Amino acid sequence: MKLFPASTPSLLHLLLLAQLFVLSASRPARCSLCSSFRPMIQSLDSLKRLSGTLHGLTDSELSIVQTGEHRLKDLPTMQHTADHFSSIKLNESLSQLYLGIQAFRLHVDWLKVARENVSLPLSSQTAEGSRVQLLLLSNLTSTALQQMNQELPQPASPSFPVVSTSFDAVRYSAEISQRLQTFCDFSKRVLTHLKRHCHCT
Ligand SMILES: *[C@@H]1O[C@H](CO)[C@@H](O)[C@H](O)[C@H]1NC(C)=O
Ligand SMILES: *[C@@H]1O[C@H](CO)[C@@H](O)[C@H](O)[C@H]1NC(C)=O
Ligand SMILES: *[C@@H]1O[C@H](CO)[C@@H](O)[C@H](O)[C@H]1NC(C)=O
Repeated sequence: MKLFPASTPSLLHLLLLAQLFVLSASRPARCSLCSSFRPMIQSLDSLKRLSGTLHGLTDSELSIVQTGEHRLKDLPTMQHTADHFSSIKLNESLSQLYLGIQAFRLHVDWLKVARENVSLPLSSQTAEGSRVQLLLLSNLTSTALQQMNQELPQPASPSFPVVSTSFDAVRYSAEISQRLQTFCDFSKRVLTHLKRHCHCT
């Protein structure tokens, strides 16, 4: 196909070609992810609401068991520094998000069984709702990573403590609930930042 008349290419043509090249090179595939951000953020909102019901406690009961101590070592910890936000990369943030989601999927599944073991089953709405939202988020992030030709990171298998009393089960529930809410808030901030960075409308 002929782009230009058969004459020798003028400087203008070359400049135009160079400009086309720059445009396509500086507009990476990442912005094809604009349509993924909204469902991810919506799902994080639903998950945050559900995570508040993982312990089944009233606020005053919660204040008694919630120590802020991190006893579950394999749940993600988040960096909240401004520094972190100014330097985040799309592929790395999405990989972190994907790994965090896998960790919470495994911990919520574990918690469900641990609570059943001490006769404190989660309501089916909470258990099923969080399972569905985590699966959806896992699906959305893995699809986004694949679109960017990024390999899916392999989650390590977490080690879980033994739960022998209902008090233990309640304390772990409170911890997962609180850390999942923090994770949802943090991930939402990251995604909102990336969305702006990608100039999505
Ligand atoms: C993200 O992409 C950059 C280059 O665009 C690359 O250097 C880096 O290794 C990637 N990170 C991950 C986690 O794949
Ligand atoms: C639940 O109880 C079974 C049988 O005692 C035990 O093998 C399993 O590890 C327990 N699961 C959790 C998550 O505590
Ligand atoms: C993710 O969702 C898409 C569309 O709903 C579906 O086609 C795909 O099979 C799902 N993938 C996984 C791993 O669940």
